[in-house]
Amino acid sequence: MTPSGNRLAGKVTLVTGSSPFINGGIACGLAEEGAKLVCIDYRLDYAEACAKEIRDGGGEAIAVACDVTKDEQVQAAVKRAEEAFGAPDILVNGAMLQIRKGLLDMSADEFRRLLDVGIIGTFLFTQHAAKSMIRHKRPGSIINIISTEGHQGNLGNIGYGTTKSGLLNFTRAAAMELAEHGIRVNSLTPTATDPTEGRDRAEAWGVDWDQVSLSIKRTDLSSGDQGIPLGKRPSPRHYARAAVFLASDDAEMITGFDLRVDGGAISRYWRWNPGTKILPKD
Ligand SMILES: NC(=O)c1ccc[n+]([C@@H]2O[C@H](COP(=O)([O-])OP(=O)(O)OC[C@H]3O[C@@H](n4cnc5c(N)ncnc54)[C@H](O)[C@@H]3O)[C@@H](O)[C@H]2O)c1
Repeated sequence: MTPSGNRLAGKVTLVTGSSPFINGGIACGLAEEGAKLVCIDYRLDYAEACAKEIRDGGGEAIAVACDVTKDEQVQAAVKRAEEAFGAPDILVNGAMLQIRKGLLDMSADEFRRLLDVGIIGTFLFTQHAAKSMIRHKRPGSIINIISTEGHQGNLGNIGYGTTKSGLLNFTRAAAMELAEHGIRVNSLTPTATDPTEGRDRAEAWGVDWDQVSLSIKRTDLSSGDQGIPLGKRPSPRHYARAAVFLASDDAEMITGFDLRVDGGAISRYWRWNPGTKILPKD
């Protein structure tokens, strides 16, 4: 990444779950606009590689190892950010994991684990980052990463979709509570994402990242594009542009909002197959 703009010049920015894929792409996109990045992950190799890509491109970044589900680790991460750069201006809650199981197969512990990382992790980071912003009188912007599965019922992934759906209302409620402090809270909804940038970035970082094979083994990487009205799945750079917008003053009157960067996936009428002119006949 190379700094190319200044829409977020000097903004202290925390990104959780900074893998080489979506959140890493978002972190680099925010840094390109001048933000100072705190790359956070419980995998230190990811956090360090993300920060290194930003520094190598001329930006400022540090890595912090942190499990988002642990209150004391989250507090320590926010403190580390304050010591390195000052109080946070921007927080992106992106850490999440996948346990792809359905209602009839998933254990309560597995379901709890997803809620813990997705909802408790977002709650803890939002709470401690917001306290720091308030203490230092910094108006801030918080962005929670959702998923199409938070808006629609999917097969065989009940804990993930439930977690993401819960974050939609967490976003609205936190937005109301923090409005008086000038802190905006929004969400960003990605959808099934082209893995190319993730694979390229993982190779450049020298880390293992095998997310696609964790779900469905695909030989045809265009698989999944067919359902998207705009004809292809988005890439992390598309999410990064939306995150820059939500974090910047351009969005100064936007709070409690979900910005969908999904090529039209959620708006699509269920009977229409993109690429065709008419609805299928019964
Ligand atoms: N991949 C997709 O197509 C897609 C689609 C929609 C939404 N999303 C969302 O985008 C975000 C990034 O997803 P991704 O596909 O890049 O996944 P990813 O697995 O590459 O990144 C998630 C990161 O979260 C980290 N993490 C997990 N548990 C953690 C914990 N307890 N503490 C700290 N870090 C933890 C992981 O180490 C990983 O680096 C997630 O919120 C995901 O739900 C992804």
